[in-house]
Amino acid sequence: MLAYPFSLALFNTFKLDVNCNSFISLDNINQLSEVSSAIKKAPQHLILGGGSNILFTKNYDGLVIKNNLKGITLINEDTQHIYLQAMAGEWWQDFVLHCVNNNYGGVENLSLIPGTVGATPIQNIGAYGVEVKNTIHSVTFFDIETEQLHTYTNAQCEFGYRESIFKHTLKNKIIITAVVFKLTKHPQLNTKYGVIAEQLIAMHITTPTIKDVSDAVIAIRQSKLPNPAITGNAGSFFKNPVVTHAVFDTLITTHPTLSHYADVKGVKLAAGWLIEQCGLKGYTHNGAAVHSKQALVLINANNATGTDVLALATHVQQTVYAKFGVQLEMEVNVL
Ligand code: EPU
Repeated sequence: MLAYPFSLALFNTFKLDVNCNSFISLDNINQLSEVSSAIKKAPQHLILGGGSNILFTKNYDGLVIKNNLKGITLINEDTQHIYLQAMAGEWWQDFVLHCVNNNYGGVENLSLIPGTVGATPIQNIGAYGVEVKNTIHSVTFFDIETEQLHTYTNAQCEFGYRESIFKHTLKNKIIITAVVFKLTKHPQLNTKYGVIAEQLIAMHITTPTIKDVSDAVIAIRQSKLPNPAITGNAGSFFKNPVVTHAVFDTLITTHPTLSHYADVKGVKLAAGWLIEQCGLKGYTHNGAAVHSKQALVLINANNATGTDVLALATHVQQTVYAKFGVQLEMEVNVL
């Protein structure tokens, strides 16, 4: 364990230079008992994956555990499926490439999402018509209090849009150690999402492979989203809000071009569209800015502090609410 103020600048994709009191790199599951003891002595603790969905607004007064558990193992297969276990600290994109290069289908639409494998079920990451819950078979986690390992089936994870049991009932109580993915040997490619179809046409591809879809997604992401290795950001800062049909009917009358999707709970609105319509694309507050190509993404444009980003986020929420009466909920964890 490393103690004394320890800088987290390299451990969050907003690149915010905040300190924590102590820091442990969890490299091996044999350390779990030691980690559990350290957590019980700390004022508070935080398990970090890639730090790609977090905004630090101040120093972290507690223990940070960086999940560095590594390894990808084939654990089962049948004529249709492959069951791959990935340890929680694997970089998500490394896992996606492993699947794409072996022609295992299911995660290609989720290419290039920053972060680690262990974070994917927490947030139920999603992009281009696919959510990770579609491929998750089970999640194994360590219970900090009882020091036992448990495995939850997909259904037990209570997945929803950017939601799971790990954000609620099990928050701060567990450490995800591994995820088993059920991938397909004969995939049905999901290319219905408009921009993927357009990108494949631009690439002159008529019968796409898994790798073609992955390459298309990478090209789209690189054209619209800031690379966190260069510009600090945490992907979509807000969730796409879901409104009732009654609210939607009123909004679409006054804003006929409102970008939206069907949703089981009502109608999902494109938050990026709402923000752009408020004239906020490229808007800056101190060193923080609304990304100029995707308004749902806030960036650390020029030595912003976490407080600058939070003030900008609040301004975006208030402006959208004043114009549309729709409340945007933050997707990023603010600490
Ligand atoms: N739009 C605008 N202006 C903008 C941004 C978007 O008008 O500045 C419009 C687009 O034209 C489109 C619609 O809004 O009609 C949706 O935009 P996009 O396809 O870029 O997706 P999104 O709904 O803004 C979601 C995810 C992203 C994911 C993309 C692609 C959430 C919160 N975000 O964004 O996920 O990559 O779909 O599927 O659901 C993330 O969660 O960090 C993330 C990047």
